[in-house]
Amino acid sequence: MYAQLVETGVKRLKTEDEMSAQERDFQQRIDAEIKIEAKNWMPDAYRQTLIRQISQHAHSEIVGMLPEGNWVTRAPTLKRKLQLMAKIQDEAGHGLYLYSAMETLGADRDSEIAKLHSGKAKYSSIFNYPTLTWADVGAVGWLVDGAAIVNQVVLQRTSYGPYSRAMIRICKEESFHQRQGYEMLLTMMRHGTQVQKDMVQDAINRLWWPSLMMFGPSDEHSPNSAQSMAWKIKRQSNDELRQRFIDQTIPQLQVLGCSVPDPALQWNAERGHYDFGEIQWEEFYQVLKGNGPCNQERVATRRQAIEDGAWVRAAAVAHARKKHLKNVA
Ligand code: 3HC
Repeated sequence: MYAQLVETGVKRLKTEDEMSAQERDFQQRIDAEIKIEAKNWMPDAYRQTLIRQISQHAHSEIVGMLPEGNWVTRAPTLKRKLQLMAKIQDEAGHGLYLYSAMETLGADRDSEIAKLHSGKAKYSSIFNYPTLTWADVGAVGWLVDGAAIVNQVVLQRTSYGPYSRAMIRICKEESFHQRQGYEMLLTMMRHGTQVQKDMVQDAINRLWWPSLMMFGPSDEHSPNSAQSMAWKIKRQSNDELRQRFIDQTIPQLQVLGCSVPDPALQWNAERGHYDFGEIQWEEFYQVLKGNGPCNQERVATRRQAIEDGAWVRAAAVAHARKKHLKNVA
């Protein structure tokens, strides 16, 4: 799979002869599965790739709080409200964890967040879709966090030490998110009214394909994969992880008694995987360009939150400065 990526004209990788001695040593460290730490020399392109990926991962966690935040005041029971609030708080923590991992590379948090607000930086496309009913909250937990786990479990083996260690804790919490989302849907399907059962199917119909898009473009159209795989930032390709997510999710869907909006979906015994239909890549790239259902609203909400919170940050800095001056006096 990896050889295909390089052959299909994606950014050509440097051959060993073209590498400097330092780059060769660095690549040997990567190939020997020795983690790269913040204090180690690294090619600037490796550093920039990580700052790009980790900052966008962190943005995804923070923006990802918004679709679910929409339902905190309307959760059907106190138990569901508590679960949802716990999940949203976890996502905030994941974002802060990842911004800290990003800062070990010398990136400035405020500048990276400014890129999110100016539209220069991306966040996961899935969060540009609305959460229209309570069933969406369950489907987000089950499908979106489920997809995130498939990607993030593999990221625990990423070559950059601080990023891989951040993933270990994040994956534990994501598993809770996926379980609580699935249990919510199972409850509605087993004990709900027909209207509630239809709500679950409608949520799956709207979120299934956008969840598959979370894994990124197809391998042959992924400009970053070849280099990220060579540096073991990415350990498996977009398509491999997408396929793994589908293979593990369809049996869960069958237990729910639901279907997915893909007439081409069927088990292929020869491949040992599910075959599935063509992803609407035009939709994917439109969402990436900012033309998704909620892009404007999401970025505006994040901008507003930063403005509204400015006084809290100023007060915290003033307090810390006063305390520091008292200690050094
Ligand atoms: N949404 C937005 N942008 C996407 C995307 C998506 N679903 N998939 C790919 N892209 C962007 C990439 O960022 C890249 O653009 P850039 O060069 O300007 O950054 C471009 O599309 C080409 O994609 P590539 O496959 O070449 O890029 P990568 O090698 O970076 O792979 C990725 C994309 C698989 C998303 C990878 O960046 C990755 O694994 N990131 C870490 C995991 C992550 O960010 N997950 C997002 C979800 S987090 C989440 O869901 C929170 C949870 O709590 C619910």
